[in-house]
Amino acid sequence: MKVAVSQANSSEIEVDLLAVGLFEGEELPGELAGAPGAADVRAGFKKLSHLHPEQPGRTIVVGLGAGSEMDAERVRVAAALVAKQAAELEARSLAWLPPATGQDETTAEALVTGTILGGYRFDRFRSADPSDPPPPAIESLTLLAPAGVEAAAETARVCAEAQNRARDLQSLPANVATPSFLGRHAREIASAHASVSAEVLGREQIAEKKMGGLVAVSQGTEEEPKLIVLRYAGGGSGPTLGLVGKGVTFDTGGISLKPSAAMHEMKMDMSGAAAVLEAVAAIAELALPIDLIAVVPATENMPSGKAIKPGDVITQYNGVTVEINNTDAEGRLILADALAYAVELGAERIVDLATLTGAVVVALGSTYAALIANDDALAAQVEAAGGATGELVWRLPLHPEYKELTKGTVADLTNASAKRKAGTIYAASFLEEFVGDTPWAHLDIAGTAWDVGRAYTGNDASGIGVRLLVELARQLAA
Ligand code: BES
Ligand code: MN
Ligand code: ZN
Repeated sequence: MKVAVSQANSSEIEVDLLAVGLFEGEELPGELAGAPGAADVRAGFKKLSHLHPEQPGRTIVVGLGAGSEMDAERVRVAAALVAKQAAELEARSLAWLPPATGQDETTAEALVTGTILGGYRFDRFRSADPSDPPPPAIESLTLLAPAGVEAAAETARVCAEAQNRARDLQSLPANVATPSFLGRHAREIASAHASVSAEVLGREQIAEKKMGGLVAVSQGTEEEPKLIVLRYAGGGSGPTLGLVGKGVTFDTGGISLKPSAAMHEMKMDMSGAAAVLEAVAAIAELALPIDLIAVVPATENMPSGKAIKPGDVITQYNGVTVEINNTDAEGRLILADALAYAVELGAERIVDLATLTGAVVVALGSTYAALIANDDALAAQVEAAGGATGELVWRLPLHPEYKELTKGTVADLTNASAKRKAGTIYAASFLEEFVGDTPWAHLDIAGTAWDVGRAYTGNDASGIGVRLLVELARQLAA
């Protein structure tokens, strides 16, 4: 989408649709206040009305509710509702007269984000119906905002488009988005940016490196696993940030087979990988002054004659031995290798994203992702980044008593305990064994990667994590 900032008057600008927000108890700005239909507009949050009823589809008013409850999230929601209406009205060009919030940059950013995310559709596999073609996408967004918000608008465009690409990766079926596909995609990101390099290891190299977790999970599938490393050299004086994303392109559970009802959703068990790959692309596009090392372990988790079995013992990349008591707890096995590898490659702080546990869906639903960290400062930074972008995180604790549960009977650790206590913390306690002293924050996004239901995410793939990671990189680069 083309995004521009203009100081033109709303009556002069030539667009298919003009959008304006309205706070409760306030008047429409300027000449809009006297426009036909102005008396009937509704200011309640999320209410949509049209000005110029004789010319429907020219000016849309979205209610913003009480000014005192205004925040960036409300702007994102309002913008997404307008974007959906714009599609319905077949508007290709849209202009927004931003509400006066006193925070022009934040508001511009939220308008761009909400418009781009709200207009997203995944229709790659739909044959076009000539009698009922899908509505055209919005091609341009003009913010009728004061000069000075251009950079904020551009950053938001880059981030939201990266998030939509992550949603594409999530939504692609597992017979398309294989580990090899993700590897090729990582190479494309590297080709597009001189500052990014990619390295993609295949089955043999993964085995040679003795990444026992990735070897074990991938041994049941015909599909070649990939260990993807992206490095971004943006300079800057801060510590190298490591990003690790779970890339299970389909999780059947393996021999500990999942029930079939929701199994198709497990094509999105690579949502962490999608966020990490596209965050690197966005950070490179923005040329942020920071160095990154991204590690994505990618594999299917399948049952077969070669698959791992409950009770098998493996040795992870860092030498720790693990008893696999449940083959469906596969994410932690591949992340363990990836985390240890990221530390070895020089990551000085690490954030990992993973659709790791069903337990987090029970605990936090689709509103908050779980944050678990061994470092308060990093946890606070991740929390602040998510608060700014609307990708909310809620911190859960680590404690030696949880750690005790992860101890194995015949090996150092067990990947799942018979006592199904604190499943999300258990998984994080397991991962903590692989980061050493490196400050590390883990985000369990199993509840927030899809089915979120906000106006700008819908109920399909949400692309969670992309904007949070870019925001974190911006903070750390500052
Ligand atoms: N990919 C799943 C977690 C998941 C569940 C993601 C629901 C999204 C929605 C993960 O690999 C898994 O199967 N976890 C198990 C762990 C258990 C066997 C210890 C779980 O949470 O049930
Ligand atoms: Mn699983
Ligand atoms: Zn999984």
